[in-house]
Amino acid sequence: MKPDGYCRVSRERTFVSVPIPTPAARITAFESLAFGMFVHWGLYSQLGKGEWAMNLHQIPKDEYRKLMATFTAQDFDAIELARTARRAGMKYLTHTTRHHDGFSLYDTRGLSDLDITHTPAGRDLILELVEACRAEGILPMLYCTTLDWSDPRFESDWAAYHRYLQASVELLCTQYGKIGGFWFDGNWSRPEADWHEDDLYRIIRRYQPEAIIINNSGIDAMGRGGHPEVDSVTFERGRPRPQDRQGAPKYVASEMCHTMNFHWGVATRDFNYLSPAHVIEELCFARRAGANLLMNIGPESQGKIPAFESAALARVGDWIEIHGGREGVLYHGRPSSVVGEGDDFALQIGDELYLFITGLTATGNTMAHDSASRGPGPRTFSQVFGRYREAIWLDSGESLAFEHALDDGLLMLNATQYPYGTNTVVRVARLR
Ligand code: GLC
Repeated sequence: MKPDGYCRVSRERTFVSVPIPTPAARITAFESLAFGMFVHWGLYSQLGKGEWAMNLHQIPKDEYRKLMATFTAQDFDAIELARTARRAGMKYLTHTTRHHDGFSLYDTRGLSDLDITHTPAGRDLILELVEACRAEGILPMLYCTTLDWSDPRFESDWAAYHRYLQASVELLCTQYGKIGGFWFDGNWSRPEADWHEDDLYRIIRRYQPEAIIINNSGIDAMGRGGHPEVDSVTFERGRPRPQDRQGAPKYVASEMCHTMNFHWGVATRDFNYLSPAHVIEELCFARRAGANLLMNIGPESQGKIPAFESAALARVGDWIEIHGGREGVLYHGRPSSVVGEGDDFALQIGDELYLFITGLTATGNTMAHDSASRGPGPRTFSQVFGRYREAIWLDSGESLAFEHALDDGLLMLNATQYPYGTNTVVRVARLR
């Protein structure tokens, strides 16, 4: 007998009567992108105090505008950015096109004079970005603010402001080739307002029917569903929960965004960085819930990719490389009904089961940030109803002993210790 409420969360097999909607092809494709790079960069980067500096340090508009005169973008190298993402195992890149300060990194063709064409940079950086991403096999996605601290129409003429916002999105849809997705952010600032989402998304569906539409529900409403055209819910800096999709009107993906320290735009006095170990865990825990991880970096003043972020993410790329690589379980593994103890969990690809073992490190001072250290030994999983003949560690190929009581669905894996010279934070066993 299977336990009550048992539901194999798999598109092929569902043992419950309430159906889970079939995802649109673009949403399935988005889910298997798994890991993306978020980039926050703009005028504020020259201040080095985070992307909210204008607002939180109460810099008057005229004063803030002066930052345009020194914005040369001399260190912005879109190819290097796309390669950094690729090196980290990321498959898409979501770049700010305009943030809340109102400044656009693209040629707005007269829609706004607060754009890149009015700076010494004099290049359309979004054009460079989308071309570089395509050249490096990274899907470009565009972040668009819906909230604007500079444009007076945002305060005084809501209809005119929305015409401006929609015309901006139409430009992004029509001047830059195929775009992977649009990531809107700011509706949380006026929860009661009519943000004209129908009109906005109609533009995207008209010109970019395959684009993913995301609208950040904000830090206080993680995982909240939205407009029917929205293709993914967001979990801003919070660990995603698996979605209950039974009976839902549409299959919607999940994406968690996170940043390498406590700001999205560069903050030179923020030393509170994530480690590669932390990012590896966040990636694994996002995948456990079937979510993508969108990991942010904040380039320096004129666009230089910060050394620490780039090095830390490259280590994450190394980890992915020895855990199945760019077409492996991190991308194609889907949540499974198999339950682990503590932070242990399982993903599934067809008949293969991947057990993610956490806390294998036995000594305290090298412990990953929040996994309880349990050391090597037996690890038990329940609701395991597939039949398996072998188990190996993905990183080494070492074969592992396991016992399986098929009738009870209980499987006990003997998780061996790291060989000297190894510590992968999370270790993955493949059963088949
Ligand atoms: C928040 C912030 C913003 C950042 C975003 C990224 O909504 O307002 O600065 O762009 O989160 O998720």
